Amino acid sequence: MDIKVIGHYTGRFGELWEQSLTDLIKEGVQGVLADAQIDQSEIEAIFVANKAGGSFNEQRHLGALVSEQFTHFPPAMRVEGACASGGLAVAAASQALMSGLYKTVLVLGVEKMTDVNTGEASAILATAASREKEYGSTFPSLYALLANYHMVRYGTTREQLSSVVVKNHRHALTNPKAQFRKEFTIEQVNQSPLVASPLRLLDCSPISDGVAAVILSSKPSSRRTQILGFGQGQDTLALMDRQDLSQLRASTNAMQQALSRAHIKLTDIQAAEVHDCFSIAEILATEDLGFFPKGEAAAAIESGKTTIGGKVIINPSGGLKACGHPVGATGVKQVAFLSKLIEAGQFDCAAAHNVGGSGATAVVTILGEKRS
Ligand code: COA
Repeated sequence: MDIKVIGHYTGRFGELWEQSLTDLIKEGVQGVLADAQIDQSEIEAIFVANKAGGSFNEQRHLGALVSEQFTHFPPAMRVEGACASGGLAVAAASQALMSGLYKTVLVLGVEKMTDVNTGEASAILATAASREKEYGSTFPSLYALLANYHMVRYGTTREQLSSVVVKNHRHALTNPKAQFRKEFTIEQVNQSPLVASPLRLLDCSPISDGVAAVILSSKPSSRRTQILGFGQGQDTLALMDRQDLSQLRASTNAMQQALSRAHIKLTDIQAAEVHDCFSIAEILATEDLGFFPKGEAAAAIESGKTTIGGKVIINPSGGLKACGHPVGATGVKQVAFLSKLIEAGQFDCAAAHNVGGSGATAVVTILGEKRS
């Protein structure tokens, strides 16, 4: 079945104190309907990606909150998979279309994280880690463990971590929706305040508010972007239960499934939005998805092989690092952003990679123009 992205919208990401959770939802619904140029009555079902509205905003009933923006109250559900909620919602919506039950559905991802302070936000985010085995850890410290392991095993350097950050902040300069449109040097990243050794403030994705939405349809459409394939991988919640800390196995499995369903080769993918919640996460993703062999991505990123003109462009939006990471919105934004670039003719085929926790859930969505 052909599933097309017939509308996409991304709001500005950042500290949006002047907008409530409901304001963000309204903006996302209106923006995506305007882009799709369809009447709201054509939306048959709604999938809402949100990690923690109950904790950030004391609002857990997100499906109903989005449905009530429509006069015909389409059936709506919230999809939650930590920071992978957005990718999961796109996958769930695609499955609903493939079942034939619906022909046109809305996927909306939203998170409003800045109504609480950084300590509270870190504690809320950490509920996606293993409460039994990692209690007290925050995500910067869990990814710091992965970074230390990668540095010891493969010789990954401080400068190479920083080169991820420098590249993604440079990419974000051309993205008007990005939270940080500001360049940094390797030195500035190296000297930013330490959060969890070796990760520094500028290695981390920020705490953000934001909304993104796509409308998917199995009806014939002149829009260019199609969901060619998707895949989902799972792993243990706790890092201590993993056999190998050099790889997020869920990402590898998700990519292999997505490639097989899309009937394409990895080399067909020209660009990818990958889940760089921390600089080390982009290095891991670039290897785990197969773009570079294990232990070689850091040098490849440092030498410019993942920016414009390189082998594969990683995080053209600026990634989570510079574009921002309103967790439930991120996976939907990746799909919306790549759809826009594909429609603009910048790429024929691209992949979105969205991770929950420290790799317990991963989703890959491959987008492009279908080849006959
Ligand atoms: N990247 C770039 N700049 C950042 C930034 C980031 N991630 N986070 C904050 N800043 C900037 C702010 O704009 C501010 O700049 P200013 O002084 O010019 O206004 C400055 O750095 C200090 O910001 P502040 O809000 O005080 O930072 P903080 O100490 O409250 O939070 C982190 C910084 C890194 C601890 C926080 O962003 C964080 O926890 N990030 C990780 C989020 C996470 O775990 N997500 C889930 C991933 S699985």
